[in-house]
Amino acid sequence: MGVNMSNKQQRIKQLSYSLLLPCILSSSVVIADPDARLLAMCQACHGSDGSNEFSSIPNLKWQNQQYMVQQLQQFKSGQRQDKTMTKVAILLSTEQMESMASYFSKGEEK
Ligand code: HEC
Repeated sequence: MGVNMSNKQQRIKQLSYSLLLPCILSSSVVIADPDARLLAMCQACHGSDGSNEFSSIPNLKWQNQQYMVQQLQQFKSGQRQDKTMTKVAILLSTEQMESMASYFSKGEEK
């Protein structure tokens, strides 16, 4: 009897975890960290740590943070033109530019 009870409780526990966990995970992706999605987009082209194998895409790894923010602002303003980066930079606020540039300037993989 005692064994059955704890089995049942365990199953209830497992069930509630399996329902709760996806909720917690998906809400943290959507609400808590919009920058994670942006970063994933940058990484798709520039590489997860900012270095990549495409000859047409510059490496961002260890580049100067201020330089990168400046380039992003110039893409956004139209002063520097690129079919892709112009569209990307339009989506970014100054704070987001700074946080992306900071990430790539450190050259660490996330
Ligand atoms: C679809 C591919 C693609 C995506 C996505 C992308 N980039 Fe780029 N990025 C490029 C290309 C191509 C260039 C080179 C543009 C040129 O030749 O002027 C570039 C250039 C840059 C530069 C200038 C580098 C230099 O050496 O002057 C920075 C900074 C940069 N990207 C940051 C980002 C950030 C931050 C993101 C994400 C928010 C991002 N990029 C998303 C393709 C991409």
